[in-house]
Amino acid sequence: MRKKLIAGNWKMHLGPVEARALIAAIRAGIDRDAAALGKDRDVMVAPPAILIPAVAQALAGSSIMLGAQNMHYEDKGAFTGEVSPPMLKGYGVTHVIIGHSERRHIFHETDVLINRKVLAALKHRMTPILCVGETQDEHDNGRALDVVLHQLRLGLENVGDDDMTAVAIAYEPVWAIGTGRNATPEQAESVHAAIRAAILERYGPERAAAVRIIYGGSVNADNVDSLVSKPDIDGALVGGASLKADSFARIVRARTR
Ligand code: 13P
Repeated sequence: MRKKLIAGNWKMHLGPVEARALIAAIRAGIDRDAAALGKDRDVMVAPPAILIPAVAQALAGSSIMLGAQNMHYEDKGAFTGEVSPPMLKGYGVTHVIIGHSERRHIFHETDVLINRKVLAALKHRMTPILCVGETQDEHDNGRALDVVLHQLRLGLENVGDDDMTAVAIAYEPVWAIGTGRNATPEQAESVHAAIRAAILERYGPERAAAVRIIYGGSVNADNVDSLVSKPDIDGALVGGASLKADSFARIVRARTR
């Protein structure tokens, strides 16, 4: 069975003091059950890059893993304002969100750039969480699957067979992000199943069965159970509701069947 992955994406929120307090409160909510929860789920938080050192410290001794929201694909160089894979690794970062819709739409990241970042994460033995998802317009025009599978194919260009199981996919329909209007479990499940089928076609049944495909877009404490109990929904990528310890701790405890 695939372990679920419950991931918090803090986006551009919090300062160092608030971040430490949030981690302390999340830990207070889940640490005592960490062993039981850890059997079938991984938990990760992705703070803004500048808060990674503070959060890494606050997570010492916890099973909660540390993620980044973005990174550059080169190890070093003249790239003003960017953060490299080795810098993240130096603080114990294990997961990197890549190609989030806000990166695609606000910062104009292309599929080619996103693919470079996926390959860089794999090279540095971090788990890339490749985000895919259609806009409202694309959804309304019945193009959701076309768009998602296209982003998937380009994002995974040159990802070898052996690396594929180290990749996670996040399906985040743009119309569901920050809107309070999540995809229904049935809607999400059908897209997740199509993503898995595309991975199966290219990488075979064993790898397709191992890859985690998580859902993001207005996940909260009330809807998480019904989403993650679907067979192809392997967890959640949570924005707003990951900024409050009680709601994130509840999401971490999601009923998965
Ligand atoms: P919300 O949970 O706030 O809708 O954000 C989802 C998201 O973009 C997570 O990466």
